[in-house]
Amino acid sequence: MFEQKEDYMIKANGFSYQKCEYVYIKEFKDNKWQEGYLSTEDTINISVMSTSLHYGQQAFEGLKAYKVSDGSINLFRVKENAKRFIKSCSRMMMPVISEDEFTKIIVELVKANKKYIPETNKSEALYIRPLMIGVGPKLGVGPSNDYMLIVTVTPVGAYFNNLAKTRCLTTFYDRAAPNGTGMVKVGPNYGSSLYALSSVKALGYNDAVFLDPLTHTKIEEVGAANFFGITYDNKYITPKSDSILPSITNDSLKVIARDYLNLEVIEEDVYINDLKRFKEASACGTGALITPISSITHLGEETVFLTHDKSLELKEILTNIQYSLIPDKYNWITKIIL
Ligand code: PLP
Ligand code: COI
Repeated sequence: MFEQKEDYMIKANGFSYQKCEYVYIKEFKDNKWQEGYLSTEDTINISVMSTSLHYGQQAFEGLKAYKVSDGSINLFRVKENAKRFIKSCSRMMMPVISEDEFTKIIVELVKANKKYIPETNKSEALYIRPLMIGVGPKLGVGPSNDYMLIVTVTPVGAYFNNLAKTRCLTTFYDRAAPNGTGMVKVGPNYGSSLYALSSVKALGYNDAVFLDPLTHTKIEEVGAANFFGITYDNKYITPKSDSILPSITNDSLKVIARDYLNLEVIEEDVYINDLKRFKEASACGTGALITPISSITHLGEETVFLTHDKSLELKEILTNIQYSLIPDKYNWITKIIL
């Protein structure tokens, strides 16, 4: 009879979900957090009238665990994900867990699922998806009384499969409103981006460039990733706006760009009609890694970016820190010793 090998499922299949052995679940009911537990089921049973289902009361995070060649595991800037999760949950009127608890839960879950962490390979890792949802019935619009924190893991590769050819198109649709929820990581922003993403993909592009919702003249995000450009005079430019999700990858790249590549780092408006000043353009994020953009098309005009040298250097340094191939001089790594 065919015997399934222990490591049968360990290969990442691009950026797609594979069930791993354990999911972490912690419930908030009777006004307090209950003891969390590891479940072998990746399904839940909740009221059909839950606020997460009807009113989008939810928040999530995305981070990765990287296998190091000495057998240990690295979490990258997990406290930053914890802080952002707290902000997102608070914005959605949900209870929070502390930064320490967030980290503790992730360490426990990664250890329990250690066999699913891809072997050291600079584009594969174990993706960790913490999620908070409002559960329990509520018909009127208002926050739920009860919540579930669910943390799932899955081995992944890069989000974009052809790094050499990422063609982007600006979209007329907005992912978030001014003074809305763009700066936090909540499902409603992604729900509202689906139509834009599908529209640009139907036209043969790889991703949508979202413009500022107020004037539609400035770049905000590239799909589910931040934007940065490198100018001909060696500046790392990234947009700043209250409707952009503050990316932990982008924040790290700003430090690396300054310290390692001696680039001047500037956060400022990036006008869509002024792309010619960039020698390189890239999307960055936990899922997207650092993905060089080969072109951006806006209102029929295509701007092509032929070189990606600095973006790829930034990617190499960031990846080397994440896999402990160079020293972690910023204290970004939390080590999990198995
Ligand atoms: N922007 C959006 C809309 C995202 O979904 C993500 C992914 O988390 C990012 C940016 C990148 O953020 P990070 O680098 O923290 O993963
Ligand atoms: C991430 O990079 O973690 C993201 O959130 C992207 C994801 C929405 C696909």
